[in-house]
Amino acid sequence: MAGNKGLPNHADLQPYNHAVAGHDGTLSDPNGELFIKPCVQQEIDFYEKANQHHPEFAALMPVYIGTLSLNDVTDVDSLNEQLPGISDHMSQGLKEEAVLRAKEAAIAKATAETAESPVDIAWKPNKTRKIPTNRSVVLQNSTHGFKKPNILDAKLGRRLWADDAPMEKRKRFDEITKVTTNGSHGFRIAGMRVYKGSDNPEELDADGYRVYNKDYGRFQVNKDNVVQEMRKFIFNKTAGIDADLGRAVAQAFLEDLKRVEHVLANSETRMYSASVLFTFEGDGEALRAAIEENNALVDDVEQGTKELVSDLDRAQEKAPEIDVQAIAGAIEGDVKVVELMGDVDSERDEENEEELSNMPRIYSLKLIDFAHAEWVPGQGPDENSLFGVRSLIKIFEEFAQ
Ligand SMILES: Nc1ncnc2c1ncn2[C@@H]1O[C@H](COP(=O)(O)OP(=O)(O)O)[C@@H](O)[C@H]1O
Ligand SMILES: [Mg+2]
Repeated sequence: MAGNKGLPNHADLQPYNHAVAGHDGTLSDPNGELFIKPCVQQEIDFYEKANQHHPEFAALMPVYIGTLSLNDVTDVDSLNEQLPGISDHMSQGLKEEAVLRAKEAAIAKATAETAESPVDIAWKPNKTRKIPTNRSVVLQNSTHGFKKPNILDAKLGRRLWADDAPMEKRKRFDEITKVTTNGSHGFRIAGMRVYKGSDNPEELDADGYRVYNKDYGRFQVNKDNVVQEMRKFIFNKTAGIDADLGRAVAQAFLEDLKRVEHVLANSETRMYSASVLFTFEGDGEALRAAIEENNALVDDVEQGTKELVSDLDRAQEKAPEIDVQAIAGAIEGDVKVVELMGDVDSERDEENEEELSNMPRIYSLKLIDFAHAEWVPGQGPDENSLFGVRSLIKIFEEFAQ
């Protein structure tokens, strides 16, 4: 993570606008390195336990930087006190925005509390799309460093509700499972965005993306067309991502999905409605250039840096004669390099770090959304989430061929 880059103008500050699903109110810093999301305590606990006790699992998650505790009396000074580590990464503008959001959230929470009479236990969907909480989790933004990030949120599980869910919620979610690919495949597309994802300019947003909202995975995608629909995410001639390049990206995702399967199968968790967040460079030209630049870095590293030898070995093993596979092998090795460098706890010197944080990204795959996740020692692996991950593996195996 790069250090303090100085205070940007308030005008530079933007709400995070690459979320493809989920609640409103997410923020990012002006450099786009951080993703800040209002969340419940359960999600914070899950991140903290993962980071303390389960490093292999933590490596599948966005880097956890910390939490922000905000309420209606929070001001910027108290933020600085709360966040000796994080405040270096936050501009004055971002802090002011965070304080403002905290006040709004506190008001929303108070309103929700007074509106709820104790006898009214019926569960109602959250229509405001804001989480009534004053805590936020601060994460590494997985879309940072991409020129045109294509993003897909795959919500995992056939069962989508946790043990503490009220009956109404269970029924509603079970109905969703019945009619969506959550039932047939153990995941559904909760949201997706594809750069130049249509030839018809009217179907693109102002930034050139085709955005598929939550209704897409609910009502348009089904067990018969899901593979075809997901192809639209990976293969996109209009943006210069041809069959070869698409296959290479699919191969890279496939490797990471297998890693997720392995770690989940060896962990004792229960996650309901967690997601796999797929991100990759959606601009074909930028994607090709990123692969080349990464390849060049791998060559450099190959000559000098002992620390990366084992990653490089893997990349070389995977670099057979056929072009596509060569790209895939290179991507895999390269991304490992980038991720090693991107980590906050990297021991590399600053110059090296600066160079690495400027590297163009190729792809990223992360597990996210742990609002209904917990560690369950002694209870074995989470077969409900694993079923979805295994379906994704099958689909990406097909794409990688
Ligand atoms: N670390 C992250 N980096 C970038 N984008 C993220 C990150 N975490 C979540 N998102 C985006 O925000 C959306 C909602 O996040 P999620 O954790 O699922 O929250 P919710 O509980 O509101 O569903 C995701 O679909 C994704 O697009
Ligand atoms: Mg979500």
